[in-house]
Amino acid sequence: MTTTPSTCPYTAGTALDPADPGFALDPADPAFAADPYPFYAALRGSGPAAEVPLVNGSSAWLVTGYDQVRAVLADPRFSNVPPQGAGRPKADSPAQRARALLARHMLNTDAPDHTRLRRLVTATFTPRRVDALRPRIEELTAGLLRRIPRRAEVDLVDAFAFPLPVLVIGEVLGVPTRDRAALREWTYRVGSPADALEPGALDDAWSSLHGYFSSLIEDKRRAPGEDLFSSLVGSGLSGEELLAMAFLLLFAGYETTMNLLASAVLLVLGHAEEPTGRHWPHVVEETLRHASPLEGTTWRRAVEDVEVEGVRIPAGASVLGVLAAASRDPGRYPDPDAFRPERWEQEDVPPSLAFGHGPHYCVGARLARLEAQIALPALFEALPGLRLAEDPALLPYRPGLLVRGPRRLPVRTPG
Ligand code: HEM
Repeated sequence: MTTTPSTCPYTAGTALDPADPGFALDPADPAFAADPYPFYAALRGSGPAAEVPLVNGSSAWLVTGYDQVRAVLADPRFSNVPPQGAGRPKADSPAQRARALLARHMLNTDAPDHTRLRRLVTATFTPRRVDALRPRIEELTAGLLRRIPRRAEVDLVDAFAFPLPVLVIGEVLGVPTRDRAALREWTYRVGSPADALEPGALDDAWSSLHGYFSSLIEDKRRAPGEDLFSSLVGSGLSGEELLAMAFLLLFAGYETTMNLLASAVLLVLGHAEEPTGRHWPHVVEETLRHASPLEGTTWRRAVEDVEVEGVRIPAGASVLGVLAAASRDPGRYPDPDAFRPERWEQEDVPPSLAFGHGPHYCVGARLARLEAQIALPALFEALPGLRLAEDPALLPYRPGLLVRGPRRLPVRTPG
């Protein structure tokens, strides 16, 4: 299967050609969000790194090739620490203070702070403890599938792809299920460009998340549970570090997995053959490549002038490793726009970049793969004959350069 022919306006020869001096990228543009791939392909063709003007008046350096993205993610001259004041709400507001505290997590730090924080998490998030979540994930999956109405039109994002990762990350953090809808809304807002939201909605989300996690930590101190987060509370992290860690695990852990599940269902339903048992891990890998749930990594900042294959990125520049583009680099993945799970059966297929690379490589990669490998076959087994209820080319996608996936997934369920 290949992707739908593009209607993306960001391609060569249009008024929004990246080579046009008047060009500015609008990451909130629905057409770009639905299909950014032609733009990334054009950019990758123009060189190893390109400075792209954004509609908000700033600009960003986008790195789009597989090898170049890996090189940037492993290079300590690109810092993860956000510049002072970048994108902050107005000075001294409670929302600014909340945001500053929650954003002080390990994905926004460099060594040696990063190394210390990451070690505490990896000591808790061991492969054994992650694998031990399997029966619970199977149970949560089966519970959700039982509640999906039969012979009906159902939004699978709402009924399945969203609640499952929230329930699972809820198990990890020990978050009560009644709070999941509010958490979804707040995390959605803090991951969206501010100009795509109602005024005040972003500030409100930062303050609410701060208040929520502060009381969760208090609860865990008073009455630790079996969850992974209770172990972190007892691990020697300060209160502020715990607050930021809870936020990071929630934020990094569910919307990405939700997008993986939704995109996989969409791709499988548009594919000629339904996968059988042993093929599901390949479907998961190919979805991670073809529909990278994180479109770009978090922002990096060049701490000095850095040459990327002859292109000079100046000190202070904001740099984005575009995982969605790197995962479709034709130099690494032949016929990159085709969805071909069987490519992962070959021995020389390059490692997935969907979980990043280098010191910030995803802590939850094992959990995310486990969830998808349990959830997808269970869904197709429970709902044989499942069909899409809308033209996939018309589905709305999440705006922004960070997270990518369909916002809803209408399907018709069997009887
Ligand atoms: C399909 C699902 C997922 C995808 C595609 C994904 C992808 C990524 C990527 C690309 C990064 C690196 C970002 C960067 O370098 O800027 C990352 C980091 C991270 N992810 Fe994931 N992730 C997923 C699921 C999860 C889950 C389930 C969890 C936790 C339960 C998680 C926790 C984290 C954490 C804590 C980091 C920061 C690591 C560090 O800074 O050292 N992720 N993830």
